[in-house]
Amino acid sequence: MMSANHLEIENSHLIIGGVDTVILAERFGTPLYVTNEARIRANYQRFQDAFPNADIYYAAKANYNLTVLRILAEEGAGADVFSGGELYCALKAGIPSDKILFNGNSKTDAELELAIENDIRVSVDSLDELRALSEIAHTHDHQAKVAFRVNPDVSPSTHPKIATGLRESKFGIPSQDVIAAYKEALSLENIKPVGIHCHIGSQILDVAPFVEATKKMMDLVEEVTRLGIQLEFIDLGGGLGISYENEAAPSPKDLANAILPVFAERIKALEIQPKLILEPGRYIMADTTILLAKVNTVKHAYRNFVGVDAGLNLLVRPVMYDAYHGIVVANKAGEKSSVVYTIVGPICEAGDVLARDRFLPKIEKGDLIAILDVGAYGFSMSSQYNGRPRCAELLVCEGKVDVIRKRESYDDLLASQILPSRFR
Ligand code: LLP
Repeated sequence: MMSANHLEIENSHLIIGGVDTVILAERFGTPLYVTNEARIRANYQRFQDAFPNADIYYAAKANYNLTVLRILAEEGAGADVFSGGELYCALKAGIPSDKILFNGNSKTDAELELAIENDIRVSVDSLDELRALSEIAHTHDHQAKVAFRVNPDVSPSTHPKIATGLRESKFGIPSQDVIAAYKEALSLENIKPVGIHCHIGSQILDVAPFVEATKKMMDLVEEVTRLGIQLEFIDLGGGLGISYENEAAPSPKDLANAILPVFAERIKALEIQPKLILEPGRYIMADTTILLAKVNTVKHAYRNFVGVDAGLNLLVRPVMYDAYHGIVVANKAGEKSSVVYTIVGPICEAGDVLARDRFLPKIEKGDLIAILDVGAYGFSMSSQYNGRPRCAELLVCEGKVDVIRKRESYDDLLASQILPSRFR
């Protein structure tokens, strides 16, 4: 059940990074996100080891906490950023500007300007964007380095909301239009095409779609090279899935074994030496983090409901993608499972169900529930819905504990609101 092998059980308590979760909950309150630094570093290194010659651009959207980004910067990661805000955070965390790619299907002029001011390469998603970028680069007397985001029309078997490389997806430029885009880029003085980019989806548990995308991308690389463009990088995106529910998941090494031969053979034939870039998010972060929630109430209705103090406000994945997250009763972790429970949050939505029909030890009010594998797209997708301040985030490492985000207060709910004077 525990996909993250950095979790242990001692005296029936769940331990993460050498720290007892029951003590963390007592000391810092709940709900509480807890991230294990050692696991971030180990995941990153495993990925980098599988692709020793590639640059790893961590997908900041998965978790853009400053400390997380800082740890990855120390490991040598670059970043895939999808907004001005993520770009700002990545730079603040010390990720070098020449290892950042600015992605996005609907960027504002202000965001493009921010990219140009910081000399950040842009993955351009449309001809409209190319023209806007060219004008902005011109006014800044700058040459913008660009890639095009290709929609390769590859269908990975994943949840439809996170399949991004399908023909009908909003992302990227259709393969058949990409060469025309490079031609136009060549005609623009303030634009320099230096890369090509795709991303086919997320939580992909089969390497075949990655191979298909690589082949399609390398076909385009051949055509782009024939235009006389020397591609500095080929970015094949992120998307490697993890095992949330004991599913078989390919490792980074499996992915490397599947796509590197195709990549190597094709660049050799073309006599070019572009850098391979990959953009993992989930693989680096998902299993590093647990969400601790306190049981407010247990009731038997048509099901056995356990009401906890975290809901879709802090973890939207179960509701949004029917995602499975492992559950451990953190203060009874060694005890025998005996009852089937459905774990629900406190939010006023019937869909606010974190885990359905799980066989667990007998649960009572006051028990501590740990929701596993929430380091990617957990806190980063949180909200204040229902007037619930966001929770704190901790970093643990070999017994040490740091608060990396403080718990919001009720005042924080109002912090950026303004009551016009006529209402005062
Ligand atoms: N690169 C680009 C351009 C992306 O759009 C994404 C994710 C990634 C890289 C990283 O993909 P990963 O390695 O994490 O699969 N909120 C959803 C996932 C949305 C993914 C969006 N794009 C979830 O919770 O499952």
